[in-house]
Amino acid sequence: MLIIKNNAGLQVFIAAAQKKGQRIGFVPTMGALHEGHLALVRHAASLSDIVVCSIFVNPTQFNDPSDLEKYPRPITRDIHLLHNVGCTVVYLPSVDDVYPPGLNTSMRLKPGPLSEVMEGEFRPGHFAGVMQVVNRLLDLVTPDYLIMGQKDYQQVAIIRFMLQSLKSTVELVVSPTIREKDGLAMSSRNVRLTKAWRSHAPLIHKTLSLVRGQLNQKTLQTIEKEGIEALEEVGFRPEYFRVVDGETLQQIKDPSHHDHIVVCTAAWAGDVRLIDNVILKP
Ligand code: PAF
Repeated sequence: MLIIKNNAGLQVFIAAAQKKGQRIGFVPTMGALHEGHLALVRHAASLSDIVVCSIFVNPTQFNDPSDLEKYPRPITRDIHLLHNVGCTVVYLPSVDDVYPPGLNTSMRLKPGPLSEVMEGEFRPGHFAGVMQVVNRLLDLVTPDYLIMGQKDYQQVAIIRFMLQSLKSTVELVVSPTIREKDGLAMSSRNVRLTKAWRSHAPLIHKTLSLVRGQLNQKTLQTIEKEGIEALEEVGFRPEYFRVVDGETLQQIKDPSHHDHIVVCTAAWAGDVRLIDNVILKP
């Protein structure tokens, strides 16, 4: 496994791989890796000849400076974890590599209605930053496959929209959410949960999963209200609990009118913000 810290090194490696006709799988991350990320790398390795995993805490997607500051950065541990999971290159660019002074990396493409709901309501500018960094990293890595996790359902929808809008040839591959045994979705933020919050945290997945049995029995308004109440009961501060169309991400009124349905939530567990979703109609 190679560790490449700058664009020049990456370009040499990518050019040599492409000359040999090797297919490149790319897993972008912000580090603080866990089993969920490793599953993405393994998935990438099953599709491609070489796998590039980037670790870059992207400043442009944080709307809260203290969240950026608190973001965990256990780089030595991350590199160690990437051994033996099929990762060929760990790419560790600096801010200047991703956003070189003098290069306009801002995107004219706007994420539109997909980014105005849920995460977009509570993290203004977040998805513009995600699109900017993913677009820039794709320019640098030039992969055949981009592998992302279903846990960030809205992020995946926006990146799909971006790739389609830019007529990109990169194939987006979505990997299922990896969960702890008790159902908690794996996330880099979980390490910041206190012991008490860690014990409450599985309730998020449990509450989302209950919606499956309720979809044809209760109104969507009741389902969403009860979801919020169930989380509030143990002290979570939910920001949203929504049953949405799986493609447009807009709230739905009648499940029978939609081919794809997903229920998504974001809730604060103390000072840690957790998100999760369950696909109700795949
Ligand atoms: O999901 C993440 O970790 C980030 O949003 C991503 C895709 C690596 C872009 O910084």
